[in-house]
Amino acid sequence: MQKGFTLWFTGLSGAGKTTLGRMLAQELRSRGLKVEHLDGDAVRKNLCRDLGFSREDREKNIERVCYVAKLLTRHDVIVLASFIAPYRHMREYCRAEIGRFVEVYVQCPLDVLIQRDEKGLYRKALAGEIDNFTGVSDPYEEPENPDLVVDTGRETAAESLARIVDWLEEQGLIPRKGAC
Ligand code: ADX
Repeated sequence: MQKGFTLWFTGLSGAGKTTLGRMLAQELRSRGLKVEHLDGDAVRKNLCRDLGFSREDREKNIERVCYVAKLLTRHDVIVLASFIAPYRHMREYCRAEIGRFVEVYVQCPLDVLIQRDEKGLYRKALAGEIDNFTGVSDPYEEPENPDLVVDTGRETAAESLARIVDWLEEQGLIPRKGAC
């Protein structure tokens, strides 16, 4: 019987939170586990479409997602959440609310993100065309005690994924491959 937990990918825009969330969701589903992936870009088009990027709105965004994640976790779904969640106190709030909570810091140096700039947002933020852009003109409070750190500036997504899956197996949060 699967036990629910929420795995939260936090990190700057473009660091790989969505990519890793999708890959991990696919891997866990292929093992027969029930998974829901909540992703910032998607959630901001529905549940949180009224919110912007002020501190207050970001807090509301995370509070709503936390509520959904808590309900799903309680019903033994594995929730993967890909949100910047730049404020430490909000991530701690999620841990306290949800209980079974894993924080994965998707780390990538800002200069690499600016160079990659897959959505073209860093260029706009640096040109002053987007206000309050995390890492450029808005804070990101790095996790102090994340459960796991993946370095997407150095590792491939497949390498990061493998480390996360190994860690989840070691912690007993998911069954070892072949055991489920
Ligand atoms: S959070 O701070 O409230 O957790 P969330 O993860 O939902 O943010 O959304 C981040 C995504 O919104 C980014 O990946 C990017 O595509 C987009 N975005 C648009 N404006 C901003 C901004 N000012 N700061 C950060 N991300 C932004």
